[in-house]
Amino acid sequence: MNNSDYIAVLDSGVGGLSVLRQLQRLLPKERYLFFGDSANAPYGTRPTAQVLELTLAAVEALLPRGIKALVIACNTATAAAVDTLRQRYPELVIVGIEPALKLAAERYPGGQIGIMATEVTLRERKFLALLSRFSGDCQVIKLPVPGLVEQIEHGKANTPETEALLRYYLQSYVGKLDALVLGCTHFPFVRPALERIFGGQTALLDGGEGTARETRRRLREAGLLYAGPGELVLENSGGEEMLCLSRRLLELP
Ligand code: DGL
Repeated sequence: MNNSDYIAVLDSGVGGLSVLRQLQRLLPKERYLFFGDSANAPYGTRPTAQVLELTLAAVEALLPRGIKALVIACNTATAAAVDTLRQRYPELVIVGIEPALKLAAERYPGGQIGIMATEVTLRERKFLALLSRFSGDCQVIKLPVPGLVEQIEHGKANTPETEALLRYYLQSYVGKLDALVLGCTHFPFVRPALERIFGGQTALLDGGEGTARETRRRLREAGLLYAGPGELVLENSGGEEMLCLSRRLLELP
């Protein structure tokens, strides 16, 4: 394993780009290999065993490419597969994103916290453990928002249709939440609509920055940080159309 090897970043689709953005901000000199599995998205409505299988297959395809770390930029894949991956590849630095519940509970002790995440994330053991460990005396409300991941995968994050979908599921919580955790990496792409809906009364928190910091910490600890020149390879099982959308979301030329 070399310092100049890739940091592989994996998601069910384009959502993980919201984490990649934070990684590039914090560690601009690293080489990134991003894989989005849009041909199989969404993962979040599938049986957990399928999500595990898809995630393992994606990781197996990434490993021979020369990677020094794997960032699972998908809360759903983390919930389904991170434990298995850590057992299978103990030598690899593996960081999996999880909903930023700890951050929300620390900032708003005893507060009302909404968590937007996929069905898989919200039902899995990992999330239940997170809840019992960190929610303290906060009231936590689970908000799956069906159809939102699909809208974002179809390039419609910033449309009136998506805003209407968000209003339909979230309007009744306006003025009632101290924090809303964006527990799916697709959701930071609808932050502008969420800000309009909640009108600044609710803090919108996501785990992207924390994941980037944890990746830096783990690479530093392993002596694997790289001092450039930075590089980004974008790949997507959904083909050229999804790569165009990826570049658009990253605001690349
Ligand atoms: N982006 C993924 C997450 O963070 C899930 C999207 C999907 O359902 O595929 O949970």
